Amino acid sequence: NQKAFIFDLDGVIVDTAKYHFLAWQRIANRLGIDFTHEHNEQLKGVSRVRSLDIILGLGNVEASQEDKDKWLAEKNEAYLQYIDRMEADEILEGVVPVLQYLKDNNQKVALGSASKNARPILEKVGILHYFDAIVDGNDVTNAKPDPEVFIRAAQLLGMPSEGAIVFEDSVAGIQAANLAKMVSIGIGDKSVLHEAQYNFNDFTEIDTKFLATLVTT
Ligand code: BG6
Ligand code: MG
Repeated sequence: NQKAFIFDLDGVIVDTAKYHFLAWQRIANRLGIDFTHEHNEQLKGVSRVRSLDIILGLGNVEASQEDKDKWLAEKNEAYLQYIDRMEADEILEGVVPVLQYLKDNNQKVALGSASKNARPILEKVGILHYFDAIVDGNDVTNAKPDPEVFIRAAQLLGMPSEGAIVFEDSVAGIQAANLAKMVSIGIGDKSVLHEAQYNFNDFTEIDTKFLATLVTT
């Protein structure tokens, strides 16, 4: 039996939320906007452009498109500096054994991320070779909860959408998986990700027995 397994990146494979936060904070501070870790939660799974709008909204700041474009570029430059220093030890615990199990058992593996920096991050932490397909923020027009990113990933794998398995840490991502009739697995707080079909705090809680069930059912 062969299934499509689709992984979100930020917050599922690596904890990059802290770098997104630091990069946004520079801009927010300069604009006099109070931007806290709690606010940062709202940006999970959200595109770069939409994230800036949310942050500007926090401070009731109105800006021209020109200014917004400048800040978006600045944010990404700062973010790139952080991810440039990333190494394999920043892969979240339990992820690599799951990827290895899927490879060893002839399963199809894809990335389905909103980030335009997905490839360089996978390269940096040394796990690009586990992925048969990558769909990221450069490839899709409709952001999660639209299922486009996951449907494209299944297509690239040559597998049906229905029954594909999605690992996600954002509410929008879980909704996208459900809309695509995929099996949604929430990674993180169960009370937040209650729409997911299965919930785990992290990948160390996912054992091979559970993975084997996903493959055969
Ligand atoms: C998502 C992150 O995966 O990618 C968001 O959860 C981020 O926080 C989004 O804004 C876009 O990322 P990037 O790297 O294209 O700015
Ligand atoms: Mg995520």
